[in-house]
Amino acid sequence: MTDDQQTTHFGFQTVNEAEKAGMVHGVFTRVASKYDIMNDVMSMGIHRVWKDAMMDWLAPRPGTRLLDVAGGTGDVSFRYLKRAPGAHATVCDMTESMLIEGRQRAEADRMAESLDWVVGDAMALPFAANSFDVYTISFGIRNVTRVQDALNEAYRVLRPGGRLMVLEFSQLPNEMMQKLYDLYSFNVIPVMGQIIANDRDSYQYLVESIRKFPDQDTFAGMIRKAGFGQVKYRNLSLGIAALHSGWKI
Ligand SMILES: C[S@@+](CC[C@H](N)C(=O)[O-])C[C@H]1O[C@@H](n2cnc3c(N)ncnc32)[C@H](O)[C@@H]1O
Repeated sequence: MTDDQQTTHFGFQTVNEAEKAGMVHGVFTRVASKYDIMNDVMSMGIHRVWKDAMMDWLAPRPGTRLLDVAGGTGDVSFRYLKRAPGAHATVCDMTESMLIEGRQRAEADRMAESLDWVVGDAMALPFAANSFDVYTISFGIRNVTRVQDALNEAYRVLRPGGRLMVLEFSQLPNEMMQKLYDLYSFNVIPVMGQIIANDRDSYQYLVESIRKFPDQDTFAGMIRKAGFGQVKYRNLSLGIAALHSGWKI
């Protein structure tokens, strides 16, 4: 690594910015076929409750255009379409293997007509300005190399009056609880990753990346910096995860 190269973190490792996306891509390519089952096992099904809470706050409206960035296997888009008749969802993700898993699920659920699957980077979205009513990113933004760039892009592609909603792991406000949660996540999740997906390292990255992500108020500040107004957040499960909402006004 030379001095003029910018560095960032990949979990607890310091890496060259240019390397991170490839490493993240490697993680999600490896886990794609086991991603959905691992989500259920690791969170004991709670990720479903959090995604439903996201939909409750978002209140999807009929006929709207959703862009679901880092949408992976499509969980958020499926929920959105089920609540909003006539809506359309574009799932954009940089890992094609995740999109392939999602497309198979869409075909099985007979939802394929309402969905597009696009390979793309959250920091340089392949969409025109003012194209979408709603932008979601669920458990994706902490993997992005430059989070502020992704938020700026969200602002660009939303139409005026459009809404951003982010679901991401966050920080527990109570130190004792955070320690208990760390004990679980650092000791149990990588072992589960080894047993179920035969891939300890990817799940070690996952728990480390959660600890590196900014706390609720810092992240709300970044959303405001991208230009969004009425920025608010709600803690989920005491702050293990959080929802952040903002409007392009
Ligand atoms: C933990 S998965 C989340 C999938 C889905 N949104 C969910 O909630 O189940 C994270 C996803 O972010 C994607 N991702 C990471 N960095 C990205 C980037 N810069 N641009 C687009 N997608 C990205 C990964 O490929 C992966 O599919």
